[in-house]
Amino acid sequence: MRHLMNPLDLSVEELDQLLDLANDIEAHPSRYAHSCEGKKLATLFYEPSTRTRLSFEAAMLNLGGSVLGFSSADSSSAAKGESVSDTIRVISCYADICAMRHPKEGAPLVASMKSSIPVINAGDGGHQHPTQTLTDLLTIRSLKGRLGDFTIGLCGDLKFGRTVHSLIQALIRYQNVHFVLISPEELRLPDSIRDGVLRKNNQVFREEVRLEDAIPELDLLYMTRVQRERFFNEEDYIRMKDFYILDREKMKLAKEDMLVLHPLPRVNEISTEVDDDPRAVYFKQAQYGVYVRMALILTLLEVKVC
Ligand code: CP
Repeated sequence: MRHLMNPLDLSVEELDQLLDLANDIEAHPSRYAHSCEGKKLATLFYEPSTRTRLSFEAAMLNLGGSVLGFSSADSSSAAKGESVSDTIRVISCYADICAMRHPKEGAPLVASMKSSIPVINAGDGGHQHPTQTLTDLLTIRSLKGRLGDFTIGLCGDLKFGRTVHSLIQALIRYQNVHFVLISPEELRLPDSIRDGVLRKNNQVFREEVRLEDAIPELDLLYMTRVQRERFFNEEDYIRMKDFYILDREKMKLAKEDMLVLHPLPRVNEISTEVDDDPRAVYFKQAQYGVYVRMALILTLLEVKVC
């Protein structure tokens, strides 16, 4: 039995197969419509979510399976003090696979150790968000045609943005990826990723504060929101929240084929006037999230579709 805690839990070959499967699902959805009949997915969300929870649920329903779960800690027995370990032992009796989001880093890993069903980390604190990374990789590969040979700018809250941490870990396994880390000083990438992942693996990267200084050279721009829920005080959040706003003027500085990604939700960091720009692919990215989660459920449940 396999779990998914970290994007590196899948080898590059396994990842390629998963993305191929996701593309096949996109092209032939009816072929997969009954592949999980009789199977149940539990969504255990101790933190708010729109895309991750609902795309997991849509994914399982598209595969002919069923879903159950909770969408906040308050509506579960966590509010009475139940541990994650006890919860997963119980959920293992009710479902075949589960996706867990939790504000505490490592909570899904703890759950996986007590679970008798596959556990998928659907985001743990400021740590990792591996299924967002699968979504990002599928979006880049499908729309850019390759995973590698590009310069990617990661912009915004690089300190708390778990999607950025996971994406960097995944992308260093491909050839010729150059990273431009664009953030205010206070929200720079943690040392554990800058030194422990980028420097340790001799990756080409540089840090910038101004988006305008980086945007002309980028093939991909990955915007992120400032993570209000991870700040210790509201004043710091208010000072930081509008540091970056991507608008039409800044898009004029970018290459004609640069793609703009964002894991969403967006707050102010991308002006809505950019939404109609053909280079803005963040809503398409959310759609890819369903295909890739369908592929992941099939893979972890070892369901073969002929
Ligand atoms: N991208 C993402 O994780 O969105 P949600 O928080 O809405 O799930």
